[in-house]
Amino acid sequence: MDKLIIKGGGPLSGEIRISGSKNSALPILAATMLSETPIQIGNLPHLNDITTMLALLRSMGLAVTLNEKMSVEIDANTITEYTAPYELVKTMRASILVLGPMLARYGRANVSFPGGCAIGSRPVDIHLRGLEAMGAVIEVDEGYIRARSHGRLKGAHIFMDTVTVGATENLLMAAVLAEGETVLENAARELEVVDLAHCLCAMGAHIEGIGTDKLVIQGVKSLKGCEYHIMPDRIETGTFLTAAAATRGHVKLKDTHPGILESVLIKLEEAGAHISFGDNWISLDMKGNRPKAVSLKTAPYPAFPTDMQAQFTAMNAVSEGTGTVVETIFENRLIQIHELNRMGANIRLEGNTAIVTGVERLKAAPVMATDLRASASLVIAGLVADGDTLVDRIYHIDRGYECIEEKLQLLGVNIRRVPS
Ligand code: EPZ
Repeated sequence: MDKLIIKGGGPLSGEIRISGSKNSALPILAATMLSETPIQIGNLPHLNDITTMLALLRSMGLAVTLNEKMSVEIDANTITEYTAPYELVKTMRASILVLGPMLARYGRANVSFPGGCAIGSRPVDIHLRGLEAMGAVIEVDEGYIRARSHGRLKGAHIFMDTVTVGATENLLMAAVLAEGETVLENAARELEVVDLAHCLCAMGAHIEGIGTDKLVIQGVKSLKGCEYHIMPDRIETGTFLTAAAATRGHVKLKDTHPGILESVLIKLEEAGAHISFGDNWISLDMKGNRPKAVSLKTAPYPAFPTDMQAQFTAMNAVSEGTGTVVETIFENRLIQIHELNRMGANIRLEGNTAIVTGVERLKAAPVMATDLRASASLVIAGLVADGDTLVDRIYHIDRGYECIEEKLQLLGVNIRRVPS
């Protein structure tokens, strides 16, 4: 397994480009199955998860043409298989997002049951209950979800007990081709759900309440292709801004937008960052000062995103003062603190709360990544540690951060990848 070696150093400084959003691209690529004619998706990030999703669509017979600018044309009319196999689903849970569109378009879908992962059990009960409410017959057999619908799915009034991004996306993609009206109550409002809804509307779907917790969908008989450009990745944006804050640096991020991560920007200003922005860029300047520790609590959008929690825990580890970090979305998403403490951090865990008392500098150590955002926190820790930090199992990072070492090198970091 590849490793990253990071030499702790000074402030990040420079300019980089932000890639398209992983968590917007994945549902939108799944949604291409709904289109009767070829569809073009642009600004896809070069990430292992995107490659996996494209491999999944190809394995089912869809025609996938990728050009050098990572734009893709997908024609779903050549589908031959209706199964998302275990070999692919086990590497990427988001494969479950093909369930809704496949069922809506073809009336059948077999998707390997996605297991849990390091951050939690990750159930899909709300996905399945919602599809059953729309008339699907679902069995779980030999580790596979086998879903069938006799004729078109039927519109339904669905209340989701938990705010869930994936279930909102799966049920939205099922509803756009269902017969009649579907109402999704307590829907997730994450911007990636909004991006998916905008793409579906560009394909001819009728969706009201986009960006709110109540989506009202009038099903249509068919959808057609369009050209759609994926939104910027708000978590990649937040990760690099937080790395700059932790290192007392000054960076400018291009091809992104301040409106996609307001709660994160407010917390960074609380930490002492000076933030300026334009239509498609954000700049953060710490003016050489040490960040102040901030307290936060993760919750569904528009609150502080759980995907930024690990990065802020790492920044707090070298900040002035004490900050408490409360994780309310996933049951096991504070696991990175054990590795951070091995690097000399002073973090106490109390249930779903981490009490982080900042130290001036961390100490380099060999550490191991356990999930995507925890690995980002270890990279940030390596930036502010004395010595060479070796981060193992960085395949987690490659799932969600495009060319992370190249982008950090552009910001002045001494970092290199050691192939296994
Ligand atoms: C999406 O995961 C993101 N992944 C995650 O980002 C993100 O952390 C998460 O939303 C929350 O924002 C993608 O978009 C590909 P959920 P998802 O369903 O959809 C419970 C990253 O780092 N739940 O919103 O799987 C669940 O257990 C990844 O990029 C049920 O109980 O998350 C959790 O506690 C990690 N039943 C809560 O809802 C269900 O049927 C939120 O999960 C579904 C979810």
